[in-house]
Amino acid sequence: MYPDRVVSGMRPTGALHLGHYHGALKNWIRMQTEMPCLFFVADWHALTTNYDDPSLIEASTWDMLIDWLAAGVDPSEATLFIQSRVPEHAELHLLLSMATPLGWLERVPTYKDQIEKLSHKDLTTYGFLGYPLLMAADVLIYRATQVPVGEDQVPHVEITREIARRFNHLYGKEKGFEEKAQDAVKKLGSKRAKMYNQLRTEFQQHGKEDALEQAKAMLDDAQSLSMIDRERLFGYLEGSRKLILVEPQARLTESSRLPGLDGQKMSKSYGNSIALREDKESVTRKIRTMPTDPARVRRTDPGDPEKCPVWQLHLVYSNSATKEWVVKGCTSAGIGCLECKQPVIDAVLKEQEPMRERAQQYLDDPSLVRAIVADGCDKARKLAQETMRDVREAMGLSYN
Ligand code: TRP
Ligand code: SF4
Repeated sequence: MYPDRVVSGMRPTGALHLGHYHGALKNWIRMQTEMPCLFFVADWHALTTNYDDPSLIEASTWDMLIDWLAAGVDPSEATLFIQSRVPEHAELHLLLSMATPLGWLERVPTYKDQIEKLSHKDLTTYGFLGYPLLMAADVLIYRATQVPVGEDQVPHVEITREIARRFNHLYGKEKGFEEKAQDAVKKLGSKRAKMYNQLRTEFQQHGKEDALEQAKAMLDDAQSLSMIDRERLFGYLEGSRKLILVEPQARLTESSRLPGLDGQKMSKSYGNSIALREDKESVTRKIRTMPTDPARVRRTDPGDPEKCPVWQLHLVYSNSATKEWVVKGCTSAGIGCLECKQPVIDAVLKEQEPMRERAQQYLDDPSLVRAIVADGCDKARKLAQETMRDVREAMGLSYN
């Protein structure tokens, strides 16, 4: 009923690294050519964990936007904006909060995890508990059908779906819908009406999908029904009539995950990252000093690529001929580690070359980025306002 649309956000954490590129941005860049995409800086989300130090938001936001553009996110294809400049997100978050059971939020797996992990911070706040709901609002306000996210964010897309379903269930009915639907059931004739009610109960109370299918097939055959009654009965089967909010799908990022310089997950806080636009000398130095298979102490010792973080980078950056050369040379001590690293250095520098070039114009003239974002915020706001009109009406708030 609603067309495909992609929404995704990223917290402004400062300059991005190559892990972000391989983990998320490459995916965005592919999707922007396939369907309408909205990508935003989740600055309010940054405050859910960093409310005590908002000083980095501003610089991080602009750095991150330049990184997106440098990586190839194309403002003529995708809409780029900043969350806090589309205040409708906050209104939807508030309205959704009215009908969101606390238990749903408390049970989100990341909730207790993060509180424990970030124990140096007090995260027993209202904002932090509500963070998945804010994310739900970010997605639902654009009626997004697809949300590209990493593994860790999948439970948030799941709760977004549940919230959409609950909203449609609570507010998607027309006035007097229940009565009108029951009148329509009667028009089926007593035998079919009885069957309809049975199948509906089986589906609604016991989740039996085949009962739903059977009932739909029966409605398809019921010639005597008017279009509107038929539509009502379809809606009544699933409990709601109008789909005001759309249940989105999580689109998992492909697993070309780039490990850090030490083989662990790449992260700025682990000190094992290469920034997206890091200068050449620094990239070269970092890779040249990367640890290798610890068993390869001397040049004459054979090594095992499986025990070497450099090999992990070859897996992402090298073709099969190079990989064969590595395996052979490493296990026979035929090549030295510096030699082995050179193709990786070359590949990383080559990947970054166009990024540095694209970034330069935005660094030279920051007003370009401001203009892109202003335009994106306008576009996003128009879409958000359309949804909010329907939401307000459904929730009984569009009176004079
Ligand atoms: N929660 C995401 C993160 O921390 C960022 C985010 C906020 C997001 N809103 C979103 C991602 C909506 C996808 C869709 O990484
Ligand atoms: Fe690692 Fe390459 Fe050295 Fe083998 S030769 S240990 S794969 S860097």
